[in-house]
Formats: sequence, C-alpha cells, structure tokens
Amino acid sequence: MSYEQFIEEVNTYSRIQAIQSQLSWDQSVMMPPNGAKARAETLAWLSGRAHETITSKKMGELISNLEESLDDLNDDQKTNVLEIRRTYDKATKLPVEFIERLAKTRSKAMGIWAKARENNDFNMYAPILTELVELAREKVSYLGTEKTPYDTLLDDYEVGLTVDYLDPLFAKLKSGLIEVLNKILLAEKQEIVDLDMNFPIPKQESFCLKVSEQMGFDFDSGRMDISAHPFSISISTGDTRITTRYDEKDPFSCLYAVMHETGHGLYEQGLPDKFALTPRGTAISLGVHESQSRLWENQIGRTEEFWKFTLPIFKEEFPDFPKEIDAAQMNLIANQVEPSFIRVEADEVTYNLHIILRYEIEKQLFNGELEVNDLPKVWNSMFKEWFGLNVENDTKGVLQDIHWSMGAFGYFPTYTLGNLYAAQLFDKMKSEFGNVNQMIEGGNWLPILDWLRKNIHEKGRLHSPSDLIEKATGSQPSSEPFLNYINEKYSKIYNF
Ligand code: CO
Repeated sequence: MSYEQFIEEVNTYSRIQAIQSQLSWDQSVMMPPNGAKARAETLAWLSGRAHETITSKKMGELISNLEESLDDLNDDQKTNVLEIRRTYDKATKLPVEFIERLAKTRSKAMGIWAKARENNDFNMYAPILTELVELAREKVSYLGTEKTPYDTLLDDYEVGLTVDYLDPLFAKLKSGLIEVLNKILLAEKQEIVDLDMNFPIPKQESFCLKVSEQMGFDFDSGRMDISAHPFSISISTGDTRITTRYDEKDPFSCLYAVMHETGHGLYEQGLPDKFALTPRGTAISLGVHESQSRLWENQIGRTEEFWKFTLPIFKEEFPDFPKEIDAAQMNLIANQVEPSFIRVEADEVTYNLHIILRYEIEKQLFNGELEVNDLPKVWNSMFKEWFGLNVENDTKGVLQDIHWSMGAFGYFPTYTLGNLYAAQLFDKMKSEFGNVNQMIEGGNWLPILDWLRKNIHEKGRLHSPSDLIEKATGSQPSSEPFLNYINEKYSKIYNF
C-alpha cells in the first residue's frame, strides 16, 4: 500500500469536514430558524461518517505501513502521517456510543445554558454542567491521563499543553498584568469624546471591507457576512469566510471584529494550496490561529498609526463625523482600560485575567478540588480579589460563556496563548523591519502579511505550536514580549 492511497483516505476525511464547515456556516448565517433541528441531525450524521473514515481498519493499516518506513518519506509526508496517527489514535480510543452521548448532552446543555443565563439561574444549569464535567472525566479515562486529568483536556485543544507549562507562564503574566492595571487605575482619568451620532450600517460595512482588503484579505477567495457572533471559517481552497455584526451607535465593535476575523481568514488563505485536504495544509492550533487575529486587531489595529492611515477613509464614509477628532483621540477611545465583568468585552490588559481565572477554576474542577455547586462562590471571590469588583449576578459571572455548555473544558487558555504569541511575533517583525509604526501609518501593510505567510501560514502543521513560534522568533513562547508591549503602550496612554 502506498502513500497515495493513504492520501486518498485522508482527502475523503477532509472532504466530509469541508461539507460540515459549509453547513455550519449556513446554519449561522443563512438558515431559517425552523431548519435547526434537521440541520443538527445532518451535522451529527456527518460527524459519524467522518469518525468512520478516520477510524476505519483501512486507515489504521495504511498508517501502520507507512510508519514502518517513515524515513523514506519527506518532511511534508511525515507530517501528514504523524498528524493523522494522532487523530486516529484519539478517535479510536473514544467509543462511538460515547461520542453520540456527548453530542446529545451538548445540544441539550446549550439550550439549558442559554435559558439559565437569561434567567440568571445557576441552579437550573448545575445538573447538566455536572453531567458535562462527568463526560469530560470519562473522555480523559479513554484518552489516558497525562500527569493530571486536566492535562489531557488541555492537550486536546493545543498539542503538548500541560499544567506544568502553563502554571509558571500564567503566574508571571497575572502578576505583571495586575501591576499594570493598578497603575492605570491610579492614573488621572482622561477626557474621552462622546461619539453621540449614528453610524449607518452600509457605511460601516463599506469601511470595514476597505480595512479588510487593506490587510490583504482576498475577496475573490472569501466573503463577509453577518452573524450573531463573529467567526471565520474555511470551506475549501479559495473559499474562506468571515462574519461580523453591526451596532449603529458603535463603529468600533464592527471594525475590530472584522480585523480579528480577517486575521483568522488570512491564515486560512495563506495555507499552502498544494497540501489542501491534508494536515500539512491545515492550521496547526487554536492558539496560533488566535495569534493571527489578535496581531492584526491589537498590535496593528489599536494604534495611533493605524488611525492616522484609516481616519481619512473613515471620515469619507461618515461626513458628519466631528472634524476635530484626530487619530490620537480615536486611539484613546479604542484603548480604554476598565475592569469589567464580561470577558468578550474586556480590554487588552484585563482580558487575560479573565482567561487565567477560568484556567484556575477548570484546573481545580478536574483535579478534584472543586465541585460544580461551588463554582459561583469561587468565581465571585476570585473576581473580587483580582478585579476589585463584586459580581452582581451569575449572568455577569460564571454563566457568561458558552464553552462549558459545549463540553469545551481546556479551551480557554488558547486565547491567552494567542495573545502571547502575537506579541512575540510582532516583536520579531519589528526587529527585522525597523520602523513598523511608519509602515502601519503609511498603509504599507503587505510586508507584514508576507512575513506571516512565510513564517506561520505556509508551515501548516509542519511544527508543533511552540516549535513554530520558536522557529519564527528565535525564542520559546513566553509572557515577556506581551508584558513589555502592554507596559509600553499603556504607560504612554495613561502617563505612568
Ligand atoms: Co478568534
């Protein structure tokens, strides 16, 4: 049996996933509400077919045969064999009965979670959440426990991630962030202009499309639509989609969502076509993906230089916009720091504290130090200690995120890794390019995209996430570049 036969099977698996992506996009963007039930069933059925394909006897044999003569393969081929081996092993360890039970509990849980959040009723959510925690523990029992059960869950979202790796990384980050936050809270309050006007949606759309194009997004190989929660998804080579939402009172909400999702989309568009439908042509991890979105959104988008370039374009779309508001003012509005309850609305300084809090809670939960019923109490006391705020109700606290209702335990840390990677990559770019600020101000953004193409996008899954970052930047992932970036940026904005 040959490598070509193996690739044929892998392609079949990837094509099923492409169909799933297409249907998921449609589900979130186009589908009428009454289609929900049948669509969920179709998607679950497709998951079954994908699972069958990846766990088939044929696939197992093809992998084993190729492994016997791994040295005859080149690096790209090896990547495909080893990555499919990893997926195969995980998939075969989980009984089909378990996968179906998990899927059913998940769709039930998401409905209960939405109601519980709406009614601010944690007790309504607690029983199903307990079930999901039990299912996650069951999953760990099939996959095998690393040093701790939580390690197994972490590894599922970012290969190689462990508590031993994250604990020191996050401890340093947390103390650094709290230090900056305290300085900001002591700083003199700034005068921020109140943008009390209407920003018509078609004009916002036009502005956001221009920014996305300026970043290098290829609209012949992608499109932008509207959904309740912005996301990006790649369907196939030449077809990457992003979504956004609009608020007529707040043009920043749409802009930064578009920059974020375009960052994700550029990664997908930059994956090597010739390895399409195989792991070698697929993004390596959630953390690296998030580094691409955050780099464009924050390191580039939330700067005065960005606004120097884009404000004239913005003012063309909104002729009534006050003439006296300049790039410095726009930058201030875009970078206000204030401790608040909701993670997805958090600024750059407090965002990662929200994540570390969830990490600590998940860790305790899976290492047997915390019961589901005690979650609100523990959440609120940590929040008070770190953010100085009393959580008024669970809707603004432990009930806010959808992740746990989807059984996604161990997912949150990838968001923070993304922020750390982004700062580290941008640092490296600065040292190679010299004056990146000048490039941003002049609209000369193409070299930035080219650098990411060469160092990240084109690599697909050739290296593990931390190796990829090390190869691109010359050092292992750390929290230092991010903390330096935060200190430098906010000491200027808040004069400390
Ligand atoms: Co993202």
